[in-house]
Amino acid sequence: MKRIYLLLALVFVGFGMKAKADEGMWLPHLIQGQTYDEMVRLGIKLTPEQIYDVNNSSLKDAIVRLGGGFCTGEMISAEGLMLTNHHCGFSAIQSLSSVDHDYLQDGFWAMKRSDELAAGFSVSFLVKIVDVTDKVTEGLTESMSAQSRSEKIRGRYKDITKEYDDKDAYISSTVKSFYEGNKYYVFVYQTYPDVRLVGAPPQSLGKYGGDTDNWMWPRHTCDFSMFRIYAGKDNKPAEYSTDNVPYKPKHHLPVSMKGVEKDDYAMIFGYPGSTDRYLTSYGVKFATDVDQPSRVKVRRAKLDIYEKYMTQDQATRIAYAAKHAQVSNYWKYFIGQTKGLKRLNVYGKKKSEETAFNTWATADADRKKLYGDVINLYEKGFQTKHKYQLSQTYINEAIFGIESIAYAAGFRGLAYSESDEDIAAAAAALAMEAPGHFKDFRRAIDEEVCAEMLMHFYQDIPVDQQPADFVKMVTKSKGDFKKIAAKLFKKSIMADQEKVMAFLAKPNVKKLEKDPIYNMMNTFLVNYLVNVRPAMAEANESLNKAKRLYVKGLMEMNPDHRYASDANSTMRVTYGKVLDYFPADAVHYSHFTTMDGVMEKYVPGDLEFDLPKRFIDLAEKREYGKYADKDGELHICFLSNNDITGGNSGSPVINGEGHLIGTAFDGNWEAMSGDIAFEDQLQRTISVDIRYTLWVIDVFAKAGHLVDEMTIIK
Ligand code: ARG
Repeated sequence: MKRIYLLLALVFVGFGMKAKADEGMWLPHLIQGQTYDEMVRLGIKLTPEQIYDVNNSSLKDAIVRLGGGFCTGEMISAEGLMLTNHHCGFSAIQSLSSVDHDYLQDGFWAMKRSDELAAGFSVSFLVKIVDVTDKVTEGLTESMSAQSRSEKIRGRYKDITKEYDDKDAYISSTVKSFYEGNKYYVFVYQTYPDVRLVGAPPQSLGKYGGDTDNWMWPRHTCDFSMFRIYAGKDNKPAEYSTDNVPYKPKHHLPVSMKGVEKDDYAMIFGYPGSTDRYLTSYGVKFATDVDQPSRVKVRRAKLDIYEKYMTQDQATRIAYAAKHAQVSNYWKYFIGQTKGLKRLNVYGKKKSEETAFNTWATADADRKKLYGDVINLYEKGFQTKHKYQLSQTYINEAIFGIESIAYAAGFRGLAYSESDEDIAAAAAALAMEAPGHFKDFRRAIDEEVCAEMLMHFYQDIPVDQQPADFVKMVTKSKGDFKKIAAKLFKKSIMADQEKVMAFLAKPNVKKLEKDPIYNMMNTFLVNYLVNVRPAMAEANESLNKAKRLYVKGLMEMNPDHRYASDANSTMRVTYGKVLDYFPADAVHYSHFTTMDGVMEKYVPGDLEFDLPKRFIDLAEKREYGKYADKDGELHICFLSNNDITGGNSGSPVINGEGHLIGTAFDGNWEAMSGDIAFEDQLQRTISVDIRYTLWVIDVFAKAGHLVDEMTIIK
């Protein structure tokens, strides 16, 4: 029996290892050797140089990193127009909104350039990618301790970035590790700080379907917003100024009006944040049994409180809209991921991959020396993680999920300032940021969140990992967390703008150190640093070693398999095709949705499925104009089998000619385990059809001047 199982396992692993056309987030400068032939087979017409070229303009120059990589955007005009998702512009739109100008509710359209509004985030373009593996790994050996290895690597990162950075030219660089520390590249960026909001549909369209439809197909969301990048008169980066002019990109994407059909070539460029495809069974078990359920629980508790207040008045709804969206997006993500990991038996698949690896690793004396201990290292590392990770998760999700606690942490700089001058400077910076913080802050909400979060921490974290002072406080109050929170908030300055401003006008470290919320923050932080972090750091060092050797070994074991490196917020390409799927036995989902589906979901007055009156009128009259498909319908969203993840949001979907056909914004419910294990039969990218975007701009919002700026391919 056993032998049959082993045999079956090996067959299974063999399947899993075969190159899947669609899996893989590839580095754009390496496609020539890695993937180009297959891209040609699937229908690409561009040359590798048209895709990535350091010396001449190429497709990569139209791809934009938002902030440090929270989302992706693409240049769609010669005059600096950038397209991204509505949920990527959400915080910017929210910040610019008030009860008088509710751009979330009503949308926003700049009818002339001077109406465009400073967005509050910067964007970066990739200048080049350079292989620095030799520089980073020179002289590193397997016998050196994990700690001295990572210290050496950190030092080299610094030396390398120093070579490339040029602050005056807004050029900065980052070294990133690939294949779990087996390859290193430096990425050089140029940053443009002046970005302005140009257009956004009302939230009813941009977030149509809300949490109910989030992470799901069939989808009918108009998830786009538009910004313009500004530059100095020399086209170089410049801080915001009314003298700035629209940035002229090296390349912008022509926009295709041709539409998409099943099996059409589709590729996506963008900045995927992180995946964990080489996670082992130990990690999967930990995720499904411990980590994810607790994140879901804590987030749900927070969302319930936000929602209770947000439905009470418009000002509060605006204030908490972005915070709510941020918490709820991954609340639902973790629910789906746990379900998916279990349903698709990812644990079992990983386990058999590890068994196969170990069999291979121990079958040869040299291999055994290098790889023989890898699986044990994993096991040991995760034992420690099982013991401590929850503490770390709860510090992030629960304790620092209390806004006033996170806010108080910003005051630590003051307490650790060496001179009166430093104190004054820190206080001045805090005073400048305070109005922004308090604009979107409601004391009553945060006090309730505080009570709830402290309770979860107390209930779920082993008592020997809790701060002793906190435990005492709970005992003294007989577990009345509302009372604890009330007391904290009553006596602290942190939840009161006037008190904060008064304090910052005359900053006093002694007074700060007596503040109960500041103190609470410090208590948790110090406890974490002393009682949790050292053990976690040690476990992570040995897990890093295990991962590096595991991936190195896998590549040696399967030399014909093309391995892609995990996402790490660097520019990647994923290619494939427009494709439908079968989510369950006897169920088929086609690859696109239409306006009929938008109207089928419409629920008047609903929080998630309401629609603007003008929109309904146009839809009922079927005024689709030139944006209709050849089938006469207005197509809304479509699917492709591209491999994307968070950070890719807003990425362009590009056809074989290099033209824009859509904007990627989500993944599908049946493949939520995708960041850990790609499921090629199930995993799809959900994108807004570019023709729907154009229809909303031109017909719905009457902002056709923006379409006129684009290069339209008929
Ligand atoms: N799940 C999408 C992503 O992470 C975000 C979709 C935003 N829409 C929403 N209803 N929350 O990229």
